[in-house]
Amino acid sequence: MSTMPEVNPARLLTSIADFAAIGATPAGGVNRQALSVEDRTARRLLAERAFARGFTVFQDEAANLFLRRDGRDATLPPLLIGSHLDSQPTGGRYDGALGTLSAFEVLEALADAGVETDRAIEVVAFTNEEGSRFSPGCMGSMAFAGAGNLSDWRRARATDGALLADELAATLQALPEARMRPIGHAISAFVELHIEQGPVLEREDVPIGVVTAVQGTKWLEIAFSGEAAHAGTTPLEFRKDPMGAAAAAIARIQGDIMPADPAARLTVGRITAEPGSINVIPSRVSFTVDIRHPDAAALAAMDRRVREECEAAGARWGCETAIELRVDMAPGRFAPEVTAAIEETCRALAIRSRPMVSGAFHDALFVGRVAPAAMIFVPCRNGISHNEAEFVSDAHIIAGARILLGVALRLSAA
Ligand code: GLV
Ligand code: MN
Ligand code: MN
Ligand code: MN
Repeated sequence: MSTMPEVNPARLLTSIADFAAIGATPAGGVNRQALSVEDRTARRLLAERAFARGFTVFQDEAANLFLRRDGRDATLPPLLIGSHLDSQPTGGRYDGALGTLSAFEVLEALADAGVETDRAIEVVAFTNEEGSRFSPGCMGSMAFAGAGNLSDWRRARATDGALLADELAATLQALPEARMRPIGHAISAFVELHIEQGPVLEREDVPIGVVTAVQGTKWLEIAFSGEAAHAGTTPLEFRKDPMGAAAAAIARIQGDIMPADPAARLTVGRITAEPGSINVIPSRVSFTVDIRHPDAAALAAMDRRVREECEAAGARWGCETAIELRVDMAPGRFAPEVTAAIEETCRALAIRSRPMVSGAFHDALFVGRVAPAAMIFVPCRNGISHNEAEFVSDAHIIAGARILLGVALRLSAA
């Protein structure tokens, strides 16, 4: 006999606290970067909970982790729900974990109620969504969707020096009980619950965002090479100073691009000077530029502008300029049939919602290229994310999980 499945609030909130303890930082956030020991611990905990419930656990060669609850008809491709478990170095407790653990709560709620779905439902934790330790972000979902090639990334070095190939192998080996499966298996659809990571829902007091699109992102790595020289003795005309070039370039792009276009986003998040000594003019300065825009043509124009300003600043300071495009994510639109299922579920549960565009990129952007996909957003306090202070109220967590359960019920029916 089956009953109406219901999210178990206490279980879900406890689960979020349990995972927040893995890689917990003193300031209340998490440092659980992709393929780290902490990431492996979190994957193991989730897999053990899945084994305990009788679900099947799979990994693919990108170490994407899948927890499957079978459906009535094994010939139907499964519905995929979930997100990621890796975090930023000073990340919050909810970015990724909320969607992954709510998806697992959906499976448990269905199992508790004895509900048999037509198609199987699989929970996924995609590998390296954040891209902070290894670039690019969304590595697991890109590989899953054939939007990137794992073999191109195997030689990638982490910010801490580790080699991606080694960390991937160690992560896969840390879960030997999981079955290996070929990457990119067929799915019927993908639904990802996530915190908004911005201020809109909270400002408008709307508990659910129905995400219809994701803006585009490009990551550039700029390097100026000059000549190391003595800080005290080298007059201006003798200097080939890459820090001068970097400062000038950053001032121009920061000063002009966002003020000119309210939809544009530009961030210089990492800067490195070599040799990095107080009284040595650096020989090399490199920095990252993250640019975003919902419109592909506007994003391309931002990219051109950044390159022009950097080339000009490098030339002014007598430096070589090298520019590499590390990430190129075109804007994406989600599937109307999936956003409609989310909206209908919100109406059925009398939970207010509004459509919105995601400013962050997500695994659903790539999975959406190979299957119908969409996202559910819940508000976070002050719109703060990628920050240890990230906070989501219990009520919003439960509302999001209830919507995910309702959508999963709709989309798992044949
Ligand atoms: C993902 O974390 C992003 O930077 O949008
Ligand atoms: Mn995320
Ligand atoms: Mn993130
Ligand atoms: Mn993200």
